[in-house]
Amino acid sequence: MLKGLLLGVAGLAMTLTNAVPVFAQEVVKVGLILPMTGPFASTGRQVSAGAKAFIAAKGDTAGGKKIELIIRDDGGVADQTRRIAQELVVNEGTKVLAGFGLTPLAMAVAPVATQAKIPTVVMAAGTAAITKASPFITRTSGTLPQYSVPVGTWASQNGIKKVVTLVSDYGPGVDAEKWFTKEFKAKGGEIAEAVRIPLQNPDFAPFLQRVRDAKPDAVFVFLPSGVGSLFMKQFADRGLADAGIKLIATGDVTDDDILNSMGKPAIGTITGHFYATSHDSPENKAYVEAFEKANNKMRPNFMSVGGYDGMALIYNALEKTKGDASGPAFMEAVKGLSWTSPRGPVSIDPETRDIIQNIYIREVKEVNGQLHNVEFQTFSALKDPEKAEAK
Ligand code: PHB
Repeated sequence: MLKGLLLGVAGLAMTLTNAVPVFAQEVVKVGLILPMTGPFASTGRQVSAGAKAFIAAKGDTAGGKKIELIIRDDGGVADQTRRIAQELVVNEGTKVLAGFGLTPLAMAVAPVATQAKIPTVVMAAGTAAITKASPFITRTSGTLPQYSVPVGTWASQNGIKKVVTLVSDYGPGVDAEKWFTKEFKAKGGEIAEAVRIPLQNPDFAPFLQRVRDAKPDAVFVFLPSGVGSLFMKQFADRGLADAGIKLIATGDVTDDDILNSMGKPAIGTITGHFYATSHDSPENKAYVEAFEKANNKMRPNFMSVGGYDGMALIYNALEKTKGDASGPAFMEAVKGLSWTSPRGPVSIDPETRDIIQNIYIREVKEVNGQLHNVEFQTFSALKDPEKAEAK
């Protein structure tokens, strides 16, 4: 009885001693809001896996604080994103918001970020204007103008004279169309037609027929991550490649998560983007290995790297502020941060809070029986061209 009591007291004492550092060390809650269900669930799966991969690699403390990741599903619906953001900030004491799989979802949270002065890290969405919507928004994905201009440069230098553009009809598609066109025309190219496709439940067939009828040298495409497989199938079925029309695109179309399932029709596609699973660097080799191990062999795509680097940004900023996650201090610390990502060297533009990064031109090739985006040309340290022009 006495022995039992003593053991009990000892146990309690141990619990208390163990508990002390946990009490002393405050927690910074990071609310990750993503489409985990619905048509863009692949984005949620990849971004959240990337964020978790960062914590697994670097531990769960930054700037002396314990980092707690809270993952919430908005189903890709903007009203949900905003409601969840408010709930996380008001009821859960969340200090940093992050994620945002589509432009309208990021835009819906901008007023919350501004009013509550909450640092908000966009890890996926890519319309240039997002970082202008709140001074508390920063970004670790990139912008469609950033990916599209190099594709325009490449096309103009590689014998492509006439192009039809084909984009999803919302923010990032409009950005891609505008900036590819601007660059391609400035270098002497001709745009035969600009085609826009609805974002929801797209049937590409009638639009591909219009492309075919215009007889361009190439079609330049932007579609959000996740819908490229259906597009590629219809591109092959409609015989565009057989008609000699080359497929050029932003890397969202040949997204590494689904590239293998596209099969032979994808081979030869030229794209511009910030990340390929096959990117050749020691950092990326370690990343891919750890990611595939933790996720049942799922291949990491660019969305996952947006999530991984979003956490890198949060950790680096908290180290700089010594754990102060309040909006003004955090956002000041974000400016000019730089680190080596699985994608290559990156930094945060102190003027725009957008990411400065390499954009690689890649070709889809079969490597050891697998389809890969193989990088062959680098446009180094690009800023978002939209904001660079506005200055
Ligand atoms: C966006 O909605 O901003 C978006 C979504 C998926 C992408 C790129 C941009 O692959």
